Amino acid sequence: MSSSSFSNATLIVTGAASGIGRQIALQASERGAEVIAADINVKALQETREIALNQGLRMEVHELDVADKNAVHDFADGIIPLLKGRKLILVNNAGVGLLSGNFYHTSEEDFEWLININLWGVIRMTKAFYPYFIQQNQGHIVNLSSVFGLGGFANQSAYCTSKFGVRGFTEAIRMELLGTHVHTTCVHPGGIKTNIVRSAIPKGSVTTAGMHEKAIVSFDKVARTTAEKAARLILKAIEKKQQKLTIGQDAKAIDLITRLFPVAYTWIFKRQMDKAFKTS
Ligand SMILES: NC(=O)c1ccc[n+]([C@@H]2O[C@H](COP(=O)([O-])OP(=O)(O)OC[C@H]3O[C@@H](n4cnc5c(N)ncnc54)[C@H](O)[C@@H]3O)[C@@H](O)[C@H]2O)c1
Repeated sequence: MSSSSFSNATLIVTGAASGIGRQIALQASERGAEVIAADINVKALQETREIALNQGLRMEVHELDVADKNAVHDFADGIIPLLKGRKLILVNNAGVGLLSGNFYHTSEEDFEWLININLWGVIRMTKAFYPYFIQQNQGHIVNLSSVFGLGGFANQSAYCTSKFGVRGFTEAIRMELLGTHVHTTCVHPGGIKTNIVRSAIPKGSVTTAGMHEKAIVSFDKVARTTAEKAARLILKAIEKKQQKLTIGQDAKAIDLITRLFPVAYTWIFKRQMDKAFKTS
């Protein structure tokens, strides 16, 4: 898909009220795509639209909870008839973090809540638009995994489960779509400077005073890539039909180490994390 073919496409992006999703919506609109931006946070979504309007860009916005099965299918049923054969780019970006400490301290309800958004949200959105992709025999599905979909990390059991799931799902449909003109990209960002940790609700063992603030400070230290840059790389990956995208030097290092040392990486990263905690 060349840069100019964004102008022949409709791009739907979830989680467009903040961070990477907001930037994808703005940059895709700048490149001429017809953008449909969706998010559960209506107020912040309107801000995305206002930024677009101030830049002379057009954008349609929709309130959508990707964890709500009926809402997702109603959303797709409303949009598909209006696409009228246009190329569709679906970016399943909406996601949440959970600060709950280790698995022992993570409640089943919190685990389920996260999976319902981060994994089921991606599956549901893809399922709802899949018949259109298959009928048109063209388009692109972009799913946001993470470096936590490349390796398992302590205190991230629910998040890692969701992001490994997103990766497995994307790679499975990729094989099924071989020979068609429907493409997939699985994105594995490292630390991106967004609101994801600020917005996370502290639970489990992280409810002690100051723990959330500490997590924010630690995240701000390691999140080196801007959301603008992450979005630019994602749009470039769509143009190049790149199937796997790692974003940031941290993501590239984690990708390499988990592939070179598929078992020993647990000890390698644990030692690094312990050192980082001692010095922070
Ligand atoms: N920031 C990072 O370091 C990082 C790293 C790896 C992967 N990611 C992934 O990138 C994606 C975007 O995250 P971000 O960093 O821009 O975070 P963010 O918190 O800035 O934005 C996430 C957006 O998703 C929306 N959202 C949350 N729950 C929703 C729901 N049920 N339905 C619809 N929208 C919902 C939020 O309202 C918010 O606007 C997520 O999938 C995240 O897991 C982020």
